[in-house]
Amino acid sequence: MKKKLKLLIVAGARPNLMKISPLIEAIRKHNKNSRAQIKYSLVYTGQHYDKLMSEVFWKDLRLPKPDFDLKVGSATHAVQTAKIMIGFERVCNKLMPDMVVVVGDVNSTLACALVASKLGIKIAHVESGLRSFDRSMPEEINRVVTDHLSDHLFVTEKSGIRNLIREGNNKENMHLVGNVMIDTLLKFRKHAKASNILKRLGIGRNTLYALLTLHRPSNVDDRVKFRTLTDALVVLSKYATVIFPVHPRTEKMLKRYGLHNFFSLHTKSSKPANIHKNRINCIDPLSYIDFVKLMMHAKFVLTDSGGIQEETTILGIPCLTIRENTERPATIEHGTNILVGCSTEKIIAESKKILRGDIKVRKKGHLKLWDGKAAKRIIRILLRTV
Ligand code: UD1
Repeated sequence: MKKKLKLLIVAGARPNLMKISPLIEAIRKHNKNSRAQIKYSLVYTGQHYDKLMSEVFWKDLRLPKPDFDLKVGSATHAVQTAKIMIGFERVCNKLMPDMVVVVGDVNSTLACALVASKLGIKIAHVESGLRSFDRSMPEEINRVVTDHLSDHLFVTEKSGIRNLIREGNNKENMHLVGNVMIDTLLKFRKHAKASNILKRLGIGRNTLYALLTLHRPSNVDDRVKFRTLTDALVVLSKYATVIFPVHPRTEKMLKRYGLHNFFSLHTKSSKPANIHKNRINCIDPLSYIDFVKLMMHAKFVLTDSGGIQEETTILGIPCLTIRENTERPATIEHGTNILVGCSTEKIIAESKKILRGDIKVRKKGHLKLWDGKAAKRIIRILLRTV
């Protein structure tokens, strides 16, 4: 092995930060104990730029300051992807890394993989192989293209290996290593336990609540679909108190479609506030630690996010996924996750089952290799490649 492996690690949006955190920690630990050092630089593309969508996560996850901040912000897919590519090409030309490490499925993942591949720099994709088989999702396009450009494919669950084989990828490049997002969850679970978010929101010990997140363009950008979903959620709130940290995309759409009147847009998570029973309580996006705490105490979670389907699996919390498909079938097979689409009947029926206690979930979920050591495995494999 050469004396130093030079990695360039990319993060672009909120969900990427939970994925790079354990990788950086694994590198630091390796460097403490080995002469074969890994040098790494961190690029933040700035797809997410709000304090609540980005800054608080760096602090919570104890991430080092990025070496480069491309500050691209939001734009159309083409403009955002192009801006990331222009900025990232400059960084690559300056640093000439041995390898670019991209995570997840956001536009930054794809943009940086494209730049690296054209510059002849090796690419490692963490969270490779996941497929929803739904090309209307921008994330699915990002996943497929990134995987085909990557040299090292780090996979979280067995379905990912099957998908990659079916698409003709080289088996030697695939590594089933587990889930870096779960590394982060397991590491920060004890910090989450200490969070005072329940108190700040005025949630009593015995309050039963459902935690809701919603931001997929397929759910919130289409007026008719978003209206249907809103109606379903209003019905649901007759049975359960709903806590809803609102993503900026969703907030914008709520206002655009005049739907915010349906909700009680009344709290700021930083200030004490009382959650209203049997209402949909909209709050600001939460920090990682506060959000995990709210997940841990929820009766169930309703979401269209990818990562939350995985986190609830490990926490043993029932998750109703407001989508027709999932790229994470292991969470369904495990029994914590149920696809409810945006059908009012299904959302209400499954919620009622959970509230009645008809859906039992194992207390603590364990999936193969989702054990807090995925990042360590990845770094060990990367060291063998140089
Ligand atoms: C992006 C990712 C998605 C990921 C999600 C997590 C892509 C294609 N999408 O979607 O995979 O699940 O992040 O949050 O990469 N906005 C703010 N403040 C911010 C960020 C965004 O106000 O800090 C606004 C933007 O102006 C925009 C909207 O929110 O109107 C959505 O932002 P966008 O960049 O389209 O991505 P997300 O929907 O967050």
